[in-house]
This record gives sequence, C-alpha cells and structure tokens, in this order.
Amino acid sequence: MKAKIKNFLKKKKKKKIVCLTSYSKSTSKILDKYCDLILVGDSLANVLYGMKTTHNLKIDTMINHAKSVTQGVRKSLVIVDMPKGSYTNPKQAVKNAKLILKTTRCDAVKIENNSHNLNIVKALSKSKINVMGHIGYTPQFKKKFKVEGKNLYQQKKLLKHALKIEQAGAFSIVLECISKITAQKITQSLKIPTIGIGSSKLCDGQILVTDDMLGVSGFYPKFVKKYANLEKIIDAATKKFSKDVRSGEFPKNINSF
Ligand code: KIV
Repeated sequence: MKAKIKNFLKKKKKKKIVCLTSYSKSTSKILDKYCDLILVGDSLANVLYGMKTTHNLKIDTMINHAKSVTQGVRKSLVIVDMPKGSYTNPKQAVKNAKLILKTTRCDAVKIENNSHNLNIVKALSKSKINVMGHIGYTPQFKKKFKVEGKNLYQQKKLLKHALKIEQAGAFSIVLECISKITAQKITQSLKIPTIGIGSSKLCDGQILVTDDMLGVSGFYPKFVKKYANLEKIIDAATKKFSKDVRSGEFPKNINSF
C-alpha cells in the first residue's frame, strides 16, 4: 500500500479528514493546500456538462479531467470516480481501473456500491488497486434522492453493507445522505475512514462538491454550506468587463503591444 494511503488511514480517530471535488488543474492547485483528499467526482456530469444524471459519462471524460487534476496536486490523495458501466464485472473493472491509474497517475478509484458489486471491490483490491466505496444515496444506481438509515431496519442493513465493503478490501467509504445515528454507528464500527456528505459531522471526514461550496453550481441542498458566492463575483466582474469593452475603457495602452 502506498505511503500516501497509509497516512490517510492513520487520520481516523485522530484528525478530521478534509475532502473536496475538483475537475481541473487550476482548482486542484488551490484545494491541495488545504485538503487531504481530492475527488475527481462523476458529479462533473451534472456540474460541468449539464447532464441530468451521471449515467452517460464516458471513462475518457473522467480520464481527461483526472489528468488535469493530478497536474495541480502535490500532496493530497487523488481519487477518481469510475463512471457507471465501467465496472459491471470484475475483469472489466480491473482493466478500467488500471487504465485510470496509469493514464492519470491518481492514487485510487471510487465505485458506488449496490447489493451486487462486492465482487468488484474484492477484485480491485486483489489486484492491489486502492478502492473507495460509496453507500447511501448513490446517483449511479438510485433514481430518487432519499435520506437513508432513518430507521433501525435500514440502519442494520447499511451497517452490514459497510462492513462487507470494508472486508472486501476498500480503504475508505463515502456515506452520502445517511442519518446522523447510522453514520455514527458505521463510523464507530469500521476500521477504515468514513467520509460524509449530508451525513452529519459524526463521520471521519467531510466532502462537498466544490462548485456547490463556492456558490457557483446553482445546486444548494440542505447539506451544502456556501463558503463563497462565486456566482455573484463572476456576475459583477463580467458586467464590468462588458461595460469597459463597450465604452472603450478596455483594453488600454498598457494592455496592448
Ligand atoms: O461525484 C461526486 O462528486 C461524488 C461526491 C458527491 C462524493 O461522488
């Protein structure tokens, strides 16, 4: 196992783990200073490409963005989401994960878990590929958004699933939109770090989609905190630029050759 991953694992119970998504070199360069983990999430389908779902994203698109991201990162772990359809059987999953790792120089891949794909986690980990799991709301497999783990039955089911994913060899797991009590149970029961999104502070770490956190995506559910209003800043700058171009104020002599 890579030293970077070992250091990441050591943070459980010691330090909260800071994670954000990135799709480009310029953003990653900034995030890398403050993050432990940068995820090239398949959320880029919605955020960048305006797709309604993540279902039609091609592996080449993930690879191209991941190549850009790794250029901006020096210290954080870089994890790349495997898009839907790229891990439908163990052989294909291993082949595609190897391609992602080799071409992008990322540290690990993430897959979304359903009740049928434990064998994929096992195959990846057997091939010495570091893999992160993802349970709760998993956009690749679930049609409707729903908070999970709200009753004891769901809690037991999610906990059992999380334990199996850990046993299968995942080095970490994303808990998306899982109730506070269930996120706590899973975090306490697993040896690997849990990374929450909409799953309370009772996880080992937190992740948000950077564009949501910066207030530029237009998507702000309850679990998102806007740390900036980039939409407003871009609007004001663009307005000023258009005014300056139309009035002849820009470009000036100092901007010319
Ligand atoms: O695709 C993504 O950005 C994700 C995070 C929301 C965890 O999977």
